[in-house]
Amino acid sequence: MNSPSESTHGSEGKKAQIRAIRFAHPGNLMARYFSEDYFNSLDESKRARMWQIIKTGIENPDSQMGAYAQSSGDYEDFEPLLEPMIRDYHNIPRDQEIEQKHDWSATTSNCNLEDIDPVLNGVSMRVRVGRNLAAFPLPGAMTKAHRLEFEVLMIKAFTALQGDSQFGGTYFSLTPGSSHVIDADAYQRRVAAHQMFKDMGGDPYLVSAGISSDWPFGRGMYVSSSEDFIVWVGEEDHLRIMSMRQGGDLAALFGRLHDGLEKFAKLIPPFAHSSRYGYVTSCPTNLGTAMRASLHLPLPKLTEGGSHLERATKAALDFGLSVRGAGGEHSDAGQGGLVDISPRARLGVTETEIMQCLYKGTAALWSLEKTS
Ligand code: ARG
Repeated sequence: MNSPSESTHGSEGKKAQIRAIRFAHPGNLMARYFSEDYFNSLDESKRARMWQIIKTGIENPDSQMGAYAQSSGDYEDFEPLLEPMIRDYHNIPRDQEIEQKHDWSATTSNCNLEDIDPVLNGVSMRVRVGRNLAAFPLPGAMTKAHRLEFEVLMIKAFTALQGDSQFGGTYFSLTPGSSHVIDADAYQRRVAAHQMFKDMGGDPYLVSAGISSDWPFGRGMYVSSSEDFIVWVGEEDHLRIMSMRQGGDLAALFGRLHDGLEKFAKLIPPFAHSSRYGYVTSCPTNLGTAMRASLHLPLPKLTEGGSHLERATKAALDFGLSVRGAGGEHSDAGQGGLVDISPRARLGVTETEIMQCLYKGTAALWSLEKTS
């Protein structure tokens, strides 16, 4: 236990750090919206919870968001801090209600990248959603026992899914001693194939938030025999459920995810969900649909052969898209200027709108590339 003087000193030190970050890193949304008056108005226990939420943004001043929720109630309990950050990131003006609706209807529509250009027929496409169970703390606050208990619960569901004609597959665990465990080589091959997540200890933002703690216990992935339906267990959210394919048919990709998601959800306890923030996620950037839909597009001209992402990033912003390197978050463009593009908005938009944004944005960026 800290003595009162020590904890006061600790708080004062952190407040000073946040003031310095606000000045040096104006992009850090936690530092931008942290209010000392609000903090001072909280009782001891809420102060301690708040430090846990924003520790990542203090220890990593270059954070864009700078906070990870630790329990699904945090978004309501710390609304005065988190809501302005959420509005800023998701571009929701103050006078507009935050409200999340879901709509997957476009998954039955015609939405094929080949209609933009026939060469876009073997594009690497991926769509994922984050989900957390209401019954467990969010990953940052899970104990090792929680992580193991959670994995056991998921293995039961995967075992039930195994015999399914469309989604049958295999679960691979990273938990030492698990009867489903895979060895280091097999794990690395799955990482190289972009099916499995990397060692979370390499992500300082997750480390600070406690999300990578107890690695690799309670971590694993389920993959369908068709290899296009994947569920991650124990990454940034309890579950990341995704569909991956090479091709051009976005509607089919989204449809595949939706079907698998519906089937899987019936086998497990309910997800944490709020009418305002939609599916509750660790990171405020993922709230709402918790969906990230992306594809790899070669933009050699816009990226000057892959050496600079700035121009593509700027152009993509006009179409509501984010650009990152093809190697994942914080990576550079790949060979031939291959970049990963995805609709930036996740909250206050529907799943259908995200798919349409990706389609229209791809068309616009592609035509810009061609005329550059
Ligand atoms: N916490 C990091 C930041 O604030 C990453 C945010 C978005 N990425 C993510 N994987 N949630 O910059």
